[in-house]
Amino acid sequence: MKVSIIGTGYVGLTTALCFADSGHQVLCIDKDLSKINSLKNNIPTIYEERLSELLKRNISSKNIQFSCDLESGIKHGQIIILAVGTPQNDQTGEADLSYIYSASIESAKFVKEYKIFITKSTVPVGTNFEIKKIIESNSGIKIDVVSNPEFMREGFAIKDFMEPDRIVVGIENENSHKIMSELYSPWIKKNYPILFTDILTAELIKYASNAFLMTKVAFINEIESLANKIGANIKDLTYGMGLDNRIGKAFLNPGPGVGGSCFPKDSMALKFIAEKNHENLSILNQVIESNFLRFKKMAQKINDKIKNDLPDKSSKEIAILGLAFKAGTDDVRMSPAIEIIKYLLEDNFKIYAFDPEAIANSKKILGDKIIYCSTLEECFNKCANIAILTEWQEFKNIVNFDNFKDKNIIDLRYIL
Ligand SMILES: NC(=O)c1ccc[n+]([C@@H]2O[C@H](COP(=O)([O-])OP(=O)(O)OC[C@H]3O[C@@H](n4cnc5c(N)ncnc54)[C@H](O)[C@@H]3O)[C@@H](O)[C@H]2O)c1
Repeated sequence: MKVSIIGTGYVGLTTALCFADSGHQVLCIDKDLSKINSLKNNIPTIYEERLSELLKRNISSKNIQFSCDLESGIKHGQIIILAVGTPQNDQTGEADLSYIYSASIESAKFVKEYKIFITKSTVPVGTNFEIKKIIESNSGIKIDVVSNPEFMREGFAIKDFMEPDRIVVGIENENSHKIMSELYSPWIKKNYPILFTDILTAELIKYASNAFLMTKVAFINEIESLANKIGANIKDLTYGMGLDNRIGKAFLNPGPGVGGSCFPKDSMALKFIAEKNHENLSILNQVIESNFLRFKKMAQKINDKIKNDLPDKSSKEIAILGLAFKAGTDDVRMSPAIEIIKYLLEDNFKIYAFDPEAIANSKKILGDKIIYCSTLEECFNKCANIAILTEWQEFKNIVNFDNFKDKNIIDLRYIL
């Protein structure tokens, strides 16, 4: 099928490569010329396992192309996938739909015949109907909209797209059902579960799923604090809980707080969706607050540990291992590491940091407020206090460093 994707970021690029690799003819559109130029030249714009292999293969098979020209994108695709960002509005906390709406208005100019617009971006309930109104009223052409929220995890993006737990598709009519079945036929043939439902339900499934997962992590983070006070063993505790199939093992790892570009902002967006519908999601509200407090609490934990454990209590130097919001990605959006570093900087810490993939992105946020190290070993040897803030597996190697025993290590990810 001929597919166009508007927005070639984490979700757009992953979606494009996976559809291209499954035989569809994909044209990726992005406003960012430097992104498009890199991709045209076979240079990945994000770090994801297997991404460069898929990029290379699909560029050479011509199943994927990249362009900034929206008109050619709209002309090319029988279906158009919207994968632009829906960040949190800084002032109100709601989902900022300006990218979605301006992509819809810009696209409408070039719609000359029936198309299906699929929203992969995470959008508040009812947004797909707004997109339909915008495109139909600006183009004068009847279109269909489909909600097809994305559940991939950064760090496992290609694997999650290719081997999904489920595919959720919100549709309005039989034609969309037929076209979406064709688009996902390689997945349907392999028996991956695909749920066809109405559009509002599909939109809400995405938010409810993310909010539920964030609740699980916020809960275990609070239990961890209690376990530490009591002297209970948190590893055994989570293992013991996870053996219960009703609870499950996933998302029971305590850590420095929930970060990333999705969970915190999607939980906030759901809070606003509920408020607009006069429903009080009291558990969700508490989860959001608990997660914000977690970053501050972890900065305090580092401070306290340094004060209590170090011979030189005046030391205000720390080496941070990990800046990405989780292992396997270079994404630092709402990274717990970055949030904790901000608190430590307020407390006048001198900070050295290393991350295998996320230094360039961290520099965009923290600039020269911290000192970046080019290797793990260099960072480890900078000072006595070490905090592990991202669960990169290579950080486990520090146990073999000569001076490991002389260090004051605060492992907020429990990887050692
Ligand atoms: N990142 C994830 O792990 C993830 C997972 C599931 C769902 N989502 C959702 O998917 C959506 C996209 O997230 P992302 O992380 O890929 O965002 P991103 O910021 O990485 O990518 C968005 C891209 O859209 C481009 N863009 C914006 N407006 C445009 C326009 N009018 N025309 C062309 N290009 C335009 C930007 O230049 C950017 O490259 C969001 O709604 C997000 O919540 C993200």
